[in-house]
Amino acid sequence: MIVVVGSTNFDIVLKVHHLTREGETSSASVMQQYLGGKGANQAIGVAKLNSKCCFLTSLGNDWAGGFLSNKLSEFDISLFANRPDDFSGQAFIEVDDLGLNRIIIYPGANGALNKNFIDQNLHILSKADIILLQGEIPWSTNLYILENYGNKCPIILDPAPAIPNMLEGIEKATYLTPNESEFSILSGRQYKSLEEIITAARLFQKSIGSTLILKLGENGCAYFSNAESFFVFPIKGLEVVDTTGAGDSFNSALAVALEGGENIRDAVKFAVLASGISTMSEGTSSAMPTGLEVQRLRSKLSENQPELVDLDDTESYLHHVQYLHRK
Ligand code: RIB
Repeated sequence: MIVVVGSTNFDIVLKVHHLTREGETSSASVMQQYLGGKGANQAIGVAKLNSKCCFLTSLGNDWAGGFLSNKLSEFDISLFANRPDDFSGQAFIEVDDLGLNRIIIYPGANGALNKNFIDQNLHILSKADIILLQGEIPWSTNLYILENYGNKCPIILDPAPAIPNMLEGIEKATYLTPNESEFSILSGRQYKSLEEIITAARLFQKSIGSTLILKLGENGCAYFSNAESFFVFPIKGLEVVDTTGAGDSFNSALAVALEGGENIRDAVKFAVLASGISTMSEGTSSAMPTGLEVQRLRSKLSENQPELVDLDDTESYLHHVQYLHRK
């Protein structure tokens, strides 16, 4: 069983030509409302890939709380919801013409997902084969789970949004899955090139010891552990309409594949496939792919897709990238 502990948000998605600049007032061409939140998306992602899922979350006592709870009940998820006297979490998401996004969240009820609630649900957590965490609930709660369960089952932590405080305890996660901007926050610097970020990621992994899976969007993902490092390229030719939630889809699929006994290379490739599919439809939780959708795409691709190269040195990877871009 996969246990997801994390946020549920009421997502307001605004379609804009370009992401709004400082001081600019822009007008959205479309507005959509969805069930979202990194926790809810990951729980739905797990359920849609046909794995047993328990979801521990927090919903407000407002209209949105009722809407989110109804929507969650449409999925095969065992839901354990904290109901504090607060607004539900909300996310304000801009999506531009290229499908890229920018998100502001208001945590609301997610901020009340505390240790007490975890203690009330110990019977669930103690049965977990894998735990999925993200950064939209208090870090102290994630830390409590990492400290108490980190040695009982694998924990996949998505440090999103990332805060420097996470550096205290982050090494207790089995897998850490930041994107480029989250990695910049955690490592305390900006990177000018892929080469720089890959070199830094390798050093960061060595310093914390946890496995690091760097999600690089259109550039694929890089995997670093104590035992090996490799790179998985994204699927070429997908029609990207909205990248929101792709990271959540990646983490759900990774957990499902690992729980199913896949080796790590195949599990990461499965996650790249699933997250690629999620970018082809609009929305967040609604874009999480089903097992059938992943199978369908897989059957259309050649056997070596998504392509994986060993990352014994950064140079061999960069040569490969240049070669692929020339094709
Ligand atoms: O990862 C996508 C999610 O981030 C959205 O659903 C939104 O709620 C924010 O939490």
